[in-house]
Amino acid sequence: MKISAPRGTKDILPDETYRWRYVDETFAEICRLAGYEEIRVPTFEATELFARGVGDASDIVAKEMYTFEDKGGRSLTLRPEGTAGVVRAFIEHGMHSLPLPVKLYYNLNAFRYEKVQKGRYREFWQLGCEVFGPTSPEADADLIILLWQFFQRLGLNEIRLEINSIGCPACRPRYLEALKAYFEPQLDHMCGDCHERFEKNVLRMIDCKVETCQAIASGAPYQLDYLCEACREHDAALRSRLDQVGVSYLVNGRIVRGLDYYVKTVFEFVSEHVGTQGTICGGGRYDGLVDQLGGQPMPGVGFAMGIERLLMELEATGAPLPERPGRDLYVLAFPNTMDPAAALVYGLRAGGVAADLDLMTRSFKAQMKYAGKGGYKALVVLGEDEANSGVGRLKWLQDGTETDVTLETDSLVRLFGDHNKR
Ligand code: HAM
Repeated sequence: MKISAPRGTKDILPDETYRWRYVDETFAEICRLAGYEEIRVPTFEATELFARGVGDASDIVAKEMYTFEDKGGRSLTLRPEGTAGVVRAFIEHGMHSLPLPVKLYYNLNAFRYEKVQKGRYREFWQLGCEVFGPTSPEADADLIILLWQFFQRLGLNEIRLEINSIGCPACRPRYLEALKAYFEPQLDHMCGDCHERFEKNVLRMIDCKVETCQAIASGAPYQLDYLCEACREHDAALRSRLDQVGVSYLVNGRIVRGLDYYVKTVFEFVSEHVGTQGTICGGGRYDGLVDQLGGQPMPGVGFAMGIERLLMELEATGAPLPERPGRDLYVLAFPNTMDPAAALVYGLRAGGVAADLDLMTRSFKAQMKYAGKGGYKALVVLGEDEANSGVGRLKWLQDGTETDVTLETDSLVRLFGDHNKR
């Protein structure tokens, strides 16, 4: 019986992995420049962490989690995102006593039982940052600027930044009341989920995907009109820093985000190229989350972006991508010269040359055929004569030119070092 990868997951094969590595490494470098250090957290966590962290009423927790019981009877969940686990680790390792801000970045896979479509998978990868400590709007801006620089470094100029403020516990109740007053008379025309959201989390009604609900929600009041003084000032200072640095943005009063932990700043980077969702990256401030998960009160702000969507954007816009890394040298040998060929190949690898030899007991002719197809830059024959004289003829496969070479590690390491620099 043929077994396929589960629906919504995909294999990332060698003709793609080097692009992933390019994105991962560029992100790691941008994070390093901005003072972030990497954190790795478990793939699964206690289910309660996400119920409390992401929010019971969010679609993610209510409908999309991969939850299972382990053999010890514990309820565990494959992480649907990274923030909750990072916050758990922050608390568990007493990181509040480190010099603040604590700046962390991650590269992790996440799992959501979602309807699979272009740019939406059940296992996907996120690059993200979380900052703990600062309450200042400049910290929110700092993250957005990091992302801006990251996209610029990748040559992505068609991604739009949208920002909003969703208020804080001081001003949100008044806004939620206004939302309830707006939606109540129209509830009969809205979907079952919205009825539930009306009771549990009325804010969620704003981003319902059902068309009739969307039409109603488009007339709902804006949180921006209900912000308290502190939230208004926070929002203004964030915009002012973005203006100063020349980061352009659109204020979109409809961004609410799909997770319940946000306060004040929320933002998304969106594009036309990544499927109906359009969102490549989302984030915002979550000042109450550490507290809510049992830590000492500690403000936080962060974002995550989907690597699959980022790569879709890179490919769709024709942004520069690295070439698939090639192999350097294939050493062709005969049964009686396999030993010196192996000695040469392993010496070359130790010296940093991507060298290879036959492992398939192929004939000389078949080795030649393989070397031609294997993506090598050059090949060299090591027969009895070459083994005795220590000299061989190296053929560059791209243009067919040949060079006499000493079959000795150091000189070949130098030769490929020079060639690869060109
Ligand atoms: P999120 O908006 O749920 O936020 O996800 C962030 C990004 O992950 C999305 O913009 C998208 O690119 C990608 N993503 C989400 N779901 C899928 C999917 N099913 N398939 C492919 N890509 C997907 C968070 O996860 C928050 N933890 C972000 C955050 C960090 N906020 C503060 N800190």
